[in-house]
Amino acid sequence: MSPLDATQARTLLDAAREAAAHHYAPYSRYAVGAALLTDQGEIIAGANIENISYGLTLCAERVAIACAVSRGLRTFSAIAVWAQEESFGAVTPCGACRQTMAEFMTGETLVISADGATGALRQTLLGDLLPDAFQGKGLTTSTGEAPC
Ligand code: THU
Repeated sequence: MSPLDATQARTLLDAAREAAAHHYAPYSRYAVGAALLTDQGEIIAGANIENISYGLTLCAERVAIACAVSRGLRTFSAIAVWAQEESFGAVTPCGACRQTMAEFMTGETLVISADGATGALRQTLLGDLLPDAFQGKGLTTSTGEAPC
């Protein structure tokens, strides 16, 4: 997939930043937002939701994906991630989110963020962030069918 043009990428990042306003992060106090661009051009966003048990915390990327999938939207061309910390480089998704993305996206799906210090856009491919993702090869379901 070729990179989004700068205007489209900024629009998606803005949606991620706006979503981050709804973060629930009383433990880390770190606000993150993510915004998906569906193949139909719709934007679905989410924010991180923490939990007192820490391990049950949901990253913004997985919240956005859950929102979209539960609305019947499963095909995406890009995801933008925005994090509050402005003095560091561009935020990149954690490993769990990369594997969740791989469930619904291809290696060609764009992952967009911006360097907090310079504002420079960073557009990478999911396949570069998670090469050789687990795809369930050899796994069969209880019906004996291969997973989709
Ligand atoms: N977080 C995200 O939402 N997305 C990421 O890609 C990295 C981390 C959240 C989880 C937690 O609420 C906070 O950032 C600190 O790790």
